[in-house]
Amino acid sequence: MDYSIETAPLEKLQCDCIIVGVYQDQQLSPTAIALNNITQGLINKIVTRGDISGKNGETVLINAIPDSQIERILLVGLGKKEPLSGKNYRKVLLAAINTLKKPQIKSVVCSLAECEVTVRDWQWKSRQIIEVFNDAVYQFTAHKSDKETESKLERISILAPENELATAQAGLLQGKSIAEGMNLTKLLGDLPGNICTPTFLAGQAIELGNKYDSLAVSILEESDMEMLGMGALLSVSRGSRQPAKLITLDYQGGAKDSKPIVLIGKGLTFDAGGISLKPGAGMDEMKYDMCGGATVLGTLLAVAQMQLPLNIIGLIPSSENMPDGDANKPGDILTSMSGKTIEVLNTDAEGRLLLCDALTYAERFNPDVVIDLATLTGACLVALGRVASGLLGNDDALCNDLTSASETANDSLWRLPLWEDYQEQLKSNFADMANVGGKDAGTITAACFLARFAEKFRWAHLDIAGTAWRTGQTKGATGRPVPLLSQYLIDRAQILKA
Ligand code: BES
Ligand code: MN
Ligand code: ZN
Repeated sequence: MDYSIETAPLEKLQCDCIIVGVYQDQQLSPTAIALNNITQGLINKIVTRGDISGKNGETVLINAIPDSQIERILLVGLGKKEPLSGKNYRKVLLAAINTLKKPQIKSVVCSLAECEVTVRDWQWKSRQIIEVFNDAVYQFTAHKSDKETESKLERISILAPENELATAQAGLLQGKSIAEGMNLTKLLGDLPGNICTPTFLAGQAIELGNKYDSLAVSILEESDMEMLGMGALLSVSRGSRQPAKLITLDYQGGAKDSKPIVLIGKGLTFDAGGISLKPGAGMDEMKYDMCGGATVLGTLLAVAQMQLPLNIIGLIPSSENMPDGDANKPGDILTSMSGKTIEVLNTDAEGRLLLCDALTYAERFNPDVVIDLATLTGACLVALGRVASGLLGNDDALCNDLTSASETANDSLWRLPLWEDYQEQLKSNFADMANVGGKDAGTITAACFLARFAEKFRWAHLDIAGTAWRTGQTKGATGRPVPLLSQYLIDRAQILKA
């Protein structure tokens, strides 16, 4: 898709469709008024007829415009004539793009960046238009014989006045970068486990590194991990025929001496549960257990595209979790890279076994902060559903920064407590800790486990088990939390400038 900013006056515009807003009580947006004037009152006619009431998200497509280079007009309801909330703004955008997917429309001009949104500027609004539109037209057709996509859209232009051109352009760059990052994250998530293996993921990372000079990629093999003493990570891949990989992406955009932000993403390309085998129903969805890793790749793509002045390390420990003669058994005791020993009471709690060694490995980068992303617990779905990702961490300032980024990015997050009291549940009779903490507070005890390997730095953990993909009829990866992380990093870069 081609995205751009358009500053030409309405009379000069040429496109298959223009999107304009209509408020309740027959009030038109500025572009709708201008368009009404050059179409002999066409829009007023439709509005006074009562064909559109202006309720948020309502749409009417005017399919033919006599004597005009604008072929169609899409009216979209904005609600009451007052500044929209960020969430309602996105609802409007989603309604608009969903109406335009089916018809034979290639080029669209969107005038909705002129709508007032509470505390948001043209940059934010331009970016949201691209993010929402791009998300809506994504379709995973890699393995369909008929590759024809639902939408015929090729070009989207955002209408902006000359005096907002610079801010709109800044939003365009951010929006395009984040959208492209989300596309990669979604594609990797949707790819099946027989194609997207740890080796495949490593190949994708190397390709990304080849595309951007600022990004250096290296891969640790099992023999390297052996030498580092990553006994927890390697115990998981021992049960699989696919070799584990530890992918490192090194993005150098900041000053040489500035400490890096480390992002760690869980990269289980398939999680069958191991000897503690998962039930069959819905097990296909465990191909998405690498979405944390895919989020690291997508976010670094966006960062490299935006050329943010930061240093960032991406770490993706990647493996399968399979039942096998050589797989972890309940009761097995492992020695992690940190030297701490772990009793495996459930082989399906494998994510933390990979992450704990990756966390210890992160120490060598002398990180400013470490953020891990993982489809870690089914319990997170019980607690927060598919709306918010879970947030836990050992540093209030970092957690607050992430929460505020999540609000700006419309990519929700909710913090859960990481109190010492919960650590008791991880007691083992035979090792330093057990890998599971029983049925209560599963998301918290998983984070408690990780916390024991994150004592040397400021750290936050995002449990994305409920947000990384959708289930049911619209099953598919969401690309979350690429927008949230990108926003956090944009904010960090902004602080440097100020
Ligand atoms: N990848 C799963 C978590 C998961 C399950 C995410 C369902 C999304 C949907 C993880 O490896 C896992 O199996 N966790 C166990 C932990 C338990 C054994 C303590 C779980 O949540 O059941
Ligand atoms: Mn598991
Ligand atoms: Zn898992």
